[in-house]
Amino acid sequence: MHPYVNTAVRAARKAGEIIVRGLARFEGVETATKGLNDFVTNIDRNAEAEIINILKTAYPHHAFLAEESGASGNADTTWIIDPLDGTTNFMHGFPQFAVSIACQVRDRIEHAVVYDPMRQEIFTASKGSGAYLENRRLRVSKQRTLQGALIATGFPYRENLHYLDPYMAMLKTVMQTAAGVRRPGAAALDLAYVAAGRVDGFWEIGLKAWDTAAGTLLIREAGGLVATLDGGEYRQNGNIVAGNPRVFMGLIEAIAPHLPADLREAAHEQALKDVAARAQAAIQASSEAGEA
Ligand code: IPD
Ligand code: CA
Ligand code: CA
Repeated sequence: MHPYVNTAVRAARKAGEIIVRGLARFEGVETATKGLNDFVTNIDRNAEAEIINILKTAYPHHAFLAEESGASGNADTTWIIDPLDGTTNFMHGFPQFAVSIACQVRDRIEHAVVYDPMRQEIFTASKGSGAYLENRRLRVSKQRTLQGALIATGFPYRENLHYLDPYMAMLKTVMQTAAGVRRPGAAALDLAYVAAGRVDGFWEIGLKAWDTAAGTLLIREAGGLVATLDGGEYRQNGNIVAGNPRVFMGLIEAIAPHLPADLREAAHEQALKDVAARAQAAIQASSEAGEA
């Protein structure tokens, strides 16, 4: 395991302890409102401070982008942190939330850790070295079509509520085809589940870099694909489709026709052609490796 991943795992476990302790002593959890239906607790803040403290002690010159404290430092290496992904779930004692830590060097995500403190599952990846759940190498699922697939998603809310109508049209198409659709409520974990083959695909509008930075590396290292909603290159901008190569493409075909203009790539038709070729190449590569 790369030393950065080791340190990030240590930080994620410490944050996990804070979160689980918070859950056990619910009356001690303080809640503040960031905006309409947007909450933060002292647990989010304490977990984030602990993560940054551990990483800063090990790497004093690195930069940080963290959900609660924002951007700090100026360096080629940036740690992108969501200390508690799934705060709404946490606040209700609904046990689906995670810690997400990614390490970006210049514009590439190099290392990823997603930790589920309830199940004590640690998902890790380093670019070029594969994705793991503990010591087990992860591969995306082998599901061949959107029909029969289990899909995870996130509903648009808060500042993305105005996308509700196009989102409902996307959801309707996916629901008419797939075997099931889930809205678990912690995007970093949804992405980790794509990497682990527990769901076959995922899409959401309006995520943030700290929600997706770690999860997207997990998926890529597990043989899956990630893109914007009509197949453009995903640069942590928050509008995301992911999946095993076949279901990923099926999802894009289901979603893209419903995209409002501001969610489309400028070169929409070209992006769709390019992504179809990319998915085909990934399918070919995995069948040559004897996987498909
Ligand atoms: C949220 C969760 C949720 C997603 C939201 C995110 P938070 O993160 O990942 O699944 O639908 O868009 O903001 O606020 O709980 O860290
Ligand atoms: Ca989050
Ligand atoms: Ca969060």
